[in-house]
Amino acid sequence: MTVPDPSAQARSIAPAAPERPKGLLIVDLGAQYAQLIARRIRECGTWCEIVPAARALEAARAMAPGGIVLTGGPASVYAEGAPVVPPELLGLGVPVLGICYGMQWMTQALGGRVRGSGEREFGHTSIAVTESNGLFHGIDGRTVVWMSHGDKVVTLPPGFKTYARSETCEHAAIGDPARGFFGVQFHPEVTHTARGVELLRNFVFQVCGMPGDWQPDSIVEQAIQKIHSTVGPHGEVVLGLSGGVDSSVAAVILHRAIGERLHCIFVDNGLLRKGEREVVETTFRDQWGVDLTVVDAAERFVDHLKGVTDPEAKRRSIGGDFVEVFRGEATRFRAAHFLGQGTLYPDVIESVPVHGGNTAMIKSHHNVGGLPDDMDMQLVEPLRELFKDEVRAIGRFLGLDERIIARQPFPGPGLAVRVVGEVTPERLAVLREADHIVTTEVEAAGAHASLWQYFAVLLPVQSVGVMGDQRTYESTCALRIVSSSDGMTADWVYLEHELLRRISSRITAEVRGINRVVLDISSKPPSTIEWE
Ligand code: XMP
Repeated sequence: MTVPDPSAQARSIAPAAPERPKGLLIVDLGAQYAQLIARRIRECGTWCEIVPAARALEAARAMAPGGIVLTGGPASVYAEGAPVVPPELLGLGVPVLGICYGMQWMTQALGGRVRGSGEREFGHTSIAVTESNGLFHGIDGRTVVWMSHGDKVVTLPPGFKTYARSETCEHAAIGDPARGFFGVQFHPEVTHTARGVELLRNFVFQVCGMPGDWQPDSIVEQAIQKIHSTVGPHGEVVLGLSGGVDSSVAAVILHRAIGERLHCIFVDNGLLRKGEREVVETTFRDQWGVDLTVVDAAERFVDHLKGVTDPEAKRRSIGGDFVEVFRGEATRFRAAHFLGQGTLYPDVIESVPVHGGNTAMIKSHHNVGGLPDDMDMQLVEPLRELFKDEVRAIGRFLGLDERIIARQPFPGPGLAVRVVGEVTPERLAVLREADHIVTTEVEAAGAHASLWQYFAVLLPVQSVGVMGDQRTYESTCALRIVSSSDGMTADWVYLEHELLRRISSRITAEVRGINRVVLDISSKPPSTIEWE
């Protein structure tokens, strides 16, 4: 008789620890563009992580990166308090790309010389490539790059040669191909640098020899392994599903990982857009077979908004109600000790203060309108290491409804911050109809692809109009149509005249209560995208 080996059994039951993908380490030296560099590298199918200089060595040891990128930064290498990069990074035997400040620091650390300069070179610059290999594999002749620097490299470190020069910058790009060390004075990550993507691809593939295996299938596989190792074979997870792309993709991955042990809660707060609840119900319950609880709490939310006109008071009321309602529902799942959230990588990156210093700050973030800290549950965040574009790519890979993947951002407080002034069921209904017309017309015309958001706002302004023989005195609706890359800044967009005409006439003809449509032509800053 063979006696079972209990430790072998335990090993087979214990979830496999998720393997870290081989990736690049990005050392943030206070760069404006650190996240952009990371996104570009991820676009090369390569995992990467951003860390502040103070944590770079520890992270490099833990991660064993295939290459290191030292970002730019606002400081001068000579300035007091300039970011201190651990020099040991240059002794790990892995390629290093220094961008702007990163190049200057590397030059100095390896025995070259950087000269401070009172003048800044800023904007488009033409460079002449002198070495078409390594970082410049397949790139020769002249090309346009984006410069933004004061100091520059005047003496190369031993072993380095010049790869490109501009009229004002003799060493616009340098490299020591034997060690895989390269430096560029310009910014390859911004679109203004014509062949920037090629340069970064060259670093990733030619110089670092990465396999390019950070692809949707491996990302999902890794996320699932991680969920298994966090929640174990019996753990149950509750997830607040808002219908936005983040919580939706998180739900689909969690569902793939743990099936019916995932319980999604969708709170209908009465402040949703037309058809929103139905899309969530059909997608998750009918199509995916997810255990979905839809809580109809519209009356409670809207009741509590009676007489409230201050935007912050509205937000507080809605946020408070959400927490109460969600907590009430979540506690029904007694066996669920885990709380799923759609937190993304940009929300958790340790950021370095822009003006010197190395103290890392961790941004705090709560998804889905802010969940209470005292909910005694362990977080499961399957998107925690992903950028938004990766989340969308995974959503598509998993077959999630395109209406959810391509959804424009929608604020947690919903239509309440677009009904300027008091929120009433009647005003919400009017706005919901007008907004639906804006959305369907913009999307039918295919104009949405280049837009960040396009929606209607109901103003607390009534004006005189005429309909048939009747004089009317009704509300005004504003069209808010903006482009943006991250919502931090935004430009107003003028849609084609015919499309605007159609939207305006449909709203005034079909929506009872609106007799005037105006166009918001304000950018952010100084305005905000939402009106409240
Ligand atoms: P603002 O109005 O500040 O909006 O220019 C920038 C982006 O954020 C969205 N937004 C919110 N999202 N809760 C959210 O989840 C909110 O309270 C909120 N307020 C604004 C807005 O739609 C835009 O995309």
